Amino acid sequence: MEMKLSLFNSSHTQEVVELFTKVFSASENESEGQIIGNLVSDLIATTEPQDLTGCVATSNDRIIGCIFFSRFVVPGGEVASILSPVAISTSVQGSGIGQQLINYGLNHLKSLSVNLVFTYGDPKYYSKTGFKQISESIVKAPFELSQPEGWLAQPLDGNPIKTMQGATKCVEALSDQKYW
Ligand SMILES: CC(C)(COP(=O)(O)OP(=O)(O)OC[C@H]1O[C@@H](n2cnc3c(N)ncnc32)[C@H](O)[C@@H]1OP(=O)(O)O)[C@@H](O)C(=O)NCCC(=O)NCCS
Repeated sequence: MEMKLSLFNSSHTQEVVELFTKVFSASENESEGQIIGNLVSDLIATTEPQDLTGCVATSNDRIIGCIFFSRFVVPGGEVASILSPVAISTSVQGSGIGQQLINYGLNHLKSLSVNLVFTYGDPKYYSKTGFKQISESIVKAPFELSQPEGWLAQPLDGNPIKTMQGATKCVEALSDQKYW
């Protein structure tokens, strides 16, 4: 299968919202599909363009995968970003596209001088692209975590992550306890 990776732009909005809705309806249930579809729609509508990086995988001009990174404010002053959400079209899951898309996004963030990337998800999956579990005693999550073992991070500048005192802040679209 021929597959291309590129940056998200606003002309992709409708197709991407549909992809997230479909993928999470299939992997969880219809209501979760709606919730994540709405989240993506909100992320695109309410985040300053300089605070949002999306990446898409296309095959035959159809979007088959998408990820978003958004600005994450940490008290240490580093430039940080958070990866969420991620969706790969159900029919092509498990063929490496998710990892390729994440690595593509991480390289792009490196070129923008982002120092630190966080995510919240399955440590077994995200460790394949360099994420490691991080304790909230090192960097706090912006909301109370229902699964603290899913709090993950990686430095992009080679420096170890230092302990930071104080609160962190995600973008408005992610600022809802139900996502955490
Ligand atoms: C989770 C998801 C993003 C992974 O992307 P993908 O392209 O299917 O996965 P990849 O092919 O890159 O990687 C597959 C590897 O990860 C492992 N893995 C761990 N958790 C997994 C999961 N939930 N789904 C698929 N693979 C998973 C597989 O065992 C496989 O390991 P291997 O390479 O050693 O065989 C994708 O399956 C998806 O969109 N799932 C539904 C939505 C979701 O759960 N999103 C993530 C939460 S935001």
